[in-house]
Parts: sequence; C-alpha cells; structure tokens
Amino acid sequence: MIAPIIRTLPELRATTKPWQLADKRIGVVPTMGALHDGHLSLVAEAKKHCDHVIVTIFVNPKQFNSEEDLKNYPRTEEDDARKLERFDVDAIYVPDGPQIYPDGFSTTVSVAGLTDVMDGVHRPGHFDGVATVVTKLFTQTSATDAFFGEKDFQQLQVVTRLARDLDLGTTVHGCPTIREIDGLAMSSRNLLLSDRARVKAPALFEEMEIIAAGLTAGDPFSDLHAVAVKRLKAAGFTDIEYLDLRSADDLTTLDAPTRPARLFAAAWLVGVRLIDNIAV
Ligand code: PAF
Repeated sequence: MIAPIIRTLPELRATTKPWQLADKRIGVVPTMGALHDGHLSLVAEAKKHCDHVIVTIFVNPKQFNSEEDLKNYPRTEEDDARKLERFDVDAIYVPDGPQIYPDGFSTTVSVAGLTDVMDGVHRPGHFDGVATVVTKLFTQTSATDAFFGEKDFQQLQVVTRLARDLDLGTTVHGCPTIREIDGLAMSSRNLLLSDRARVKAPALFEEMEIIAAGLTAGDPFSDLHAVAVKRLKAAGFTDIEYLDLRSADDLTTLDAPTRPARLFAAAWLVGVRLIDNIAV
C-alpha cells in the first residue's frame, strides 16, 4: 500500500497523537531519501519492533559542507515512496525547510567528544547539523524507537549519545551495514559514482578486510595501514582522509584491537567521498 505522504508538522502531530495516547511504539527511520536496500533493512527492522513506522525524507542543508554537494545530492521522492510500498509503513514524512527550520530558528545541538575525530574533523559542522535535525525529527515524530545504519557508525554513536543526554525517550537501534554483491557499502552517494569509478569503489572495503585479517594474524597496524594506503592510491583513490583503528565505544585510536574495535575509512574516488567501517 502507498503510505500517506505527510508534509507539515500539524498533519504529522495529528497522525501520531492517537498512537501516543494508545501508548504505541512509534518507530522512525530518518533518511535523506535516495533509498537503497540499506535503508529498507532499517524499515524492516522498525516494522519488527514497533506498532507504527514513519520514514522521514529530508535533505538537511545544515549537515552539508558545500552548496555543490547539497545541490548534487540525489532526490528521488517518487521512487522512494514506491520502494516503501511493500513495507506498509504508516507514513512518509517529507517536510519542507520551514517545517524543520522555521524563521528565526537559532538552536544547535552539539555533541562533544565523539565529534572531535574523523568526520567531525574532515566535515566541520556536519555533526551539529545531524544532531540538530535528528533531535527535531525525534521530537516532531514522537519517536519511541529510531533506526540507523552502522555504515555511518560515528553518526550512530552521536545520535545514541544525544538521545540519552537529552532524555528524548527514543531508543536508538544500530543495524548492520548492507553491502552490494562486490562488497561496496550501500550509500545514496554511490549513485554519484561514474561507471568507471563504481568498478574501483569496492577496493576500499577489500583493503579494510585485508587489514582486519592482518590484525587477526598479529601484524602491526602501522605496516598494514601503509600497504593499504599505497594500494588504494594505485587503485585511483585521491585523498584518504582517514584509515583508523579505533575503539568501538568511545572512538579513541588504538594501535591494536585490544578491546572491541573497528576500522574506519573515508576516501575520495573521482569526486565522490566514500566512507566505510568494519568490526575487527
Ligand atoms: O544518515 C542520514 O541519511 C542523515 O545523516 C540523517 C540521519 C537522515 C540526518 O539527516
């Protein structure tokens, strides 16, 4: 069934009010659209846990680092609604700018610590934009549960922290990264890759897997890192922003996986920034 598309906050509130009064679990899957199987796996998970599910689609200007990137971000609302049909979600919330940032909007939600590294450094202001919009989306939808992919692991940590710190009453669920058959992590940005770049893109995950295997065999991370960077450059990656081994809970850097750890990468391939992470 095609889910109703809700475009205004009063309509959204009228929809969720009876659910709240009946003490129902309201699951929210926040997205910026261009839905792929990764998003759809979050919707499936939300359907398992919740009485009602809302998918939000809002390309949030506050989390982009350049006008160009914002302009180029894929927008595919009709396709997105069609992809959601089989999940029978209760609503698709597609607010316009003023529903989220009305005139005079002047509040920023900022999470300290977790945002001092990786994308927090390479994309200044990005996580403030994410934290602010996610707080708005949680409160506007009255979400009891929200579903995020581990693909954006740092984002997942930031959102989990803000929901706790601000007592939003929303339980944040992290869901596994969904990959293409060749290993590339699914991302809306993959649509921006040229055919030639798309063929090269899985090298990022391949190199991360090689590092993970090396760490398991006891090889030093610095050696594995140097080889991977060299090979990624040879494969056409132009700027490897980070390829870090970090603790999975507080994102501090590690030399070896002495506690639950993840490998994190961000690199540019022919004008497209790819990120990925895996447990090691
Ligand atoms: O992961 C995303 O698509 C976005 O960062 C999110 C969580 C929808 C906030 O705009």
